Amino acid sequence: MTIHIGAAPGDIAETVLMPGDPLRAKWAAETFLDDPKCVNEVRGMLGYTGTWQGHRVTIHGSGMGMPSLSIYANELIKDYRAKTLIRIGSCGAMQERVAVRDIILAMTSSTLSTPSRGIFRELNYAPCADFDLLHAAHAAARDTGAKVHVGGIYSSDVFYDERPDLNEQMMRHGILGVEMEAAELYTLAARYSVRALAVLTVSDHLITHEALPAEDRERSFGDMVEIALKAAFA
Ligand code: HPA
Repeated sequence: MTIHIGAAPGDIAETVLMPGDPLRAKWAAETFLDDPKCVNEVRGMLGYTGTWQGHRVTIHGSGMGMPSLSIYANELIKDYRAKTLIRIGSCGAMQERVAVRDIILAMTSSTLSTPSRGIFRELNYAPCADFDLLHAAHAAARDTGAKVHVGGIYSSDVFYDERPDLNEQMMRHGILGVEMEAAELYTLAARYSVRALAVLTVSDHLITHEALPAEDRERSFGDMVEIALKAAFA
């Protein structure tokens, strides 16, 4: 047990999929894993461990934003020895050519700040995805038939953003989409020499203001679970 995870030692698999929403962790575990067992429910942050094609997998919520993800990823890596962490989540598109329903694989993520900011001080550290995971996820994502984009994203500390000028500069510099967790996940993975990737579905569009209809969200989420599982065990 850790402060935020009630799982016994050995209850967490080396491969962990991390949706933001704990109820999505439950749905994904019950839909994709054999013999899913609930291993955490501290503060309602659900985690499940089961097997996929014979491989042990944990699906554990991260909560929203980098401070929340940082708590769970730190404990999963340092206390439970997780070795591969894949965020599965949604993002807002920041380029015309990126459409709602498309998949973005985050090669790197820009930020104003992460919970790790204090370590880096004046350094603008560039967090990056694990190449093998990214490469395998790219093939798996293409198999879904979705349009797939690979590139830089923005991990924001705020959902209700008040900096249109900053978004404009990021759009000019090719940032594909905005979410709120990947930069800290990649930074922690680098610090502890584990693998990380963020697989994102575009749920809304910052330029066209289109949004993914509710009935499409479950299917998109299921596609991301499959991509993440195939990438983890490629
Ligand atoms: N902003 C931040 N995070 C997000 C968004 C957004 O527009 N869409 C999905 N996650």
